Amino acid sequence: MSEQEVKKENQAAEEQKDTLILEPVLEKAEETKEDDTKAENVDEKNKTMEPFKNLHVIVVTSGKGGVGKTTSSAAIATGIARKGFKTAVLDFDVGLRNLDLIMGCERRVVYDFINVIQGEAKLNQALIKDRHVNNLYVLPASQTKDKEALTKDGVEKVFRELDEMNFEYVVCDSPAGIEDGALKALYFADEAIVTTNPEVSSVRDSDRIIGILNAKSRRSELELEPVAAKLLLTRYVPSRVKKSEMLSVEDVQELLTIPLLGVIPESTDVLKASNSGNPIILNEESDAGQAYEDAVERLLGNEVPLRFVTEKKGFFGKLFTK
Ligand SMILES: Nc1ncnc2c1ncn2[C@@H]1O[C@H](COP(=O)(O)OP(=O)(O)OP(=O)(O)O)[C@@H](O)[C@H]1O
Ligand SMILES: [Mg+2]
Repeated sequence: MSEQEVKKENQAAEEQKDTLILEPVLEKAEETKEDDTKAENVDEKNKTMEPFKNLHVIVVTSGKGGVGKTTSSAAIATGIARKGFKTAVLDFDVGLRNLDLIMGCERRVVYDFINVIQGEAKLNQALIKDRHVNNLYVLPASQTKDKEALTKDGVEKVFRELDEMNFEYVVCDSPAGIEDGALKALYFADEAIVTTNPEVSSVRDSDRIIGILNAKSRRSELELEPVAAKLLLTRYVPSRVKKSEMLSVEDVQELLTIPLLGVIPESTDVLKASNSGNPIILNEESDAGQAYEDAVERLLGNEVPLRFVTEKKGFFGKLFTK
């Protein structure tokens, strides 16, 4: 073997040695990298699995649009806060922003939900203290930003912070439909208020949302106790039910098979309340206001009889009955 050949062979041996030493190191590095991602996933899961300290998450949802979700979110959040619980009501309807109007705080909006998620404002800068009731805060939706900005992680961050701030209830006003915004609003729910009008299309869409609550919520993903879905039947007109122009409470219950939280009668007071920025529950004279108060009682575990489901007697009706 020439001197040159020996040199070449030594060099090759050295190179092989390097590879032999390097390979396990690289393998190890790959393993560690894999372990890290595994650990990250576990952490991520643990984080989402960790229960909130005090916070109870309620979503007001429906599937179908325009059935009374925002009206109900405002009324129910106000009712819960009036019972002394620290409550926040969150508008998930990115782009539309109706909740602040119904709560009567639209002129005080400076920052919104998306600003908080994107770190442009602190949560306590964006929360608006309600002017009617103590313990109540409104987090408005963004009117301009794109809907993609509402991320699941962002929503969780806001909920964890509300929990740290010792909030006890958060009421989430869902947008219409079964698309992304509605899914984000219901994902963390412990309880769902399925808002439905007494008509077939509304019932059908509510049925779809109940399916989604059972399949796509955090509770279903983690195999926890299912989201407690409750029926809120709104815009009920007993006289039209009697004439078979509307589904009855019993019809709707039979179709949806979830417990009844309340029946809210159709009332012109609702629009008046929204236009003046005073949630309807504050109008104690109004049937609709009283029906929301009953629903809040039931939500908090108290039994109250069902009212406003039969036709109101007119003057002559009252004369002829005892
Ligand atoms: N009990 C009621 N009596 C009369 N009108 C009502 C009642 N509940 C809601 N409304 C009216 O129905 C309309 C829709 O209500 P609201 O905005 O609360 O529905 P929504 O489900 O939030 O709609 P969207 O799906 O567009 O967000 C409003 O004009 C509201 O005033
Ligand atoms: Mg709405």
